[in-house]
Amino acid sequence: MKKINFATIVAAGLVCFAAGALAATEGATKDSMQLKPVKGEEGKVSAANTFNRLLKKDKARNLPPPEDGIHDADNEGTHVLQPPLVAFEGLPKTDFGNYVDWVQSLQKGFLNPRYDRVDPTVEPLVMDLDIVREVKASVPDVVFPHKPHTQWLHCSNCHPAIFIPQKNANQINMSAILLGQKCGVCHGKVSFPITTLSCKKCHSKPKPDDWKPPLSSASVKNPWR
Ligand code: HEC
Ligand code: HEC
Ligand code: HEC
Repeated sequence: MKKINFATIVAAGLVCFAAGALAATEGATKDSMQLKPVKGEEGKVSAANTFNRLLKKDKARNLPPPEDGIHDADNEGTHVLQPPLVAFEGLPKTDFGNYVDWVQSLQKGFLNPRYDRVDPTVEPLVMDLDIVREVKASVPDVVFPHKPHTQWLHCSNCHPAIFIPQKNANQINMSAILLGQKCGVCHGKVSFPITTLSCKKCHSKPKPDDWKPPLSSASVKNPWR
């Protein structure tokens, strides 16, 4: 293993801290005149972090790069970029996220994403393997399809950092997903979000007819009493 110098880490940390403190004081002096929220704008977030579901979202979506709060409007290059709404025209639609069904767009040949940054001839390593995760709650079971994932992503995007590649070796639940872990590392940020309209995309396998909710441990007879 490569040795890391402890002093380097501490020094790097201090530099970051100092830079942060400087930025904070600068911001404080610059913005002190504008601390009062603008009427009608209270609790709103910039488009840069609308994935935070706890905050109110801007009404306008997919703004052109110079207006999206992510790109630098003063940079000439920003104005050369194609606005998303122009790029999305004619693609299959969904009811959530950026309203594009990216899986269908790829399947129907609207897109031909380049798999390798440097070499345009590299083909994706597609694996067609569905993993069914039986859910203890009465919602339909979750099917994780490898195919539509591996058409966009290399295995190493998920294995082993996010998921151990073994069925049921990972503990997954909705709280973790909504907090941006497990499936939520991508869903809600770069792929379709968790909304009341998208549950069915993941919870797609109906429960068997004879399904019964598992017994709660509290209802099992306690042998010690
Ligand atoms: C988007 C994330 C993601 C990508 C990309 C991905 N996997 Fe997986 N993989 C999963 C999940 C989730 C599971 C299920 C884990 C569980 O049930 O705990 C899984 C399970 C597996 C398993 C275990 C199967 C079993 O029956 O036990 C293997 C093997 C595997 N993946 C291989 C691959 C390979 C090879 C690739 C690339 C071609 C790949 N995975 C790409 C998320 C991913
Ligand atoms: C990105 C995929 C995805 C979406 C979208 C999604 N879920 Fe889940 N959900 C999961 C996974 C994965 C699990 C864990 C399954 C397991 O137990 O292995 C889960 C588990 C659950 C559970 C069981 C309790 C728990 O927290 O684990 C409930 C209830 C649930 N989901 C409801 C919903 C509802 C309601 C929606 C829509 C608002 C939704 N889910 C949307 C993937 C998703
Ligand atoms: C590394 C990023 C990443 C992770 C982690 C991830 N996904 Fe995805 N997922 C994607 C991308 C990218 C797509 C394709 C684009 C889209 O539909 O938004 C996708 C598509 C899907 C689809 C296909 C929907 C369709 O229209 O057919 C399902 C279902 C899905 N994901 C479920 C899951 C579940 C369940 C998990 C967790 C077990 C998970 N994903 C984890 C990135 C990810």
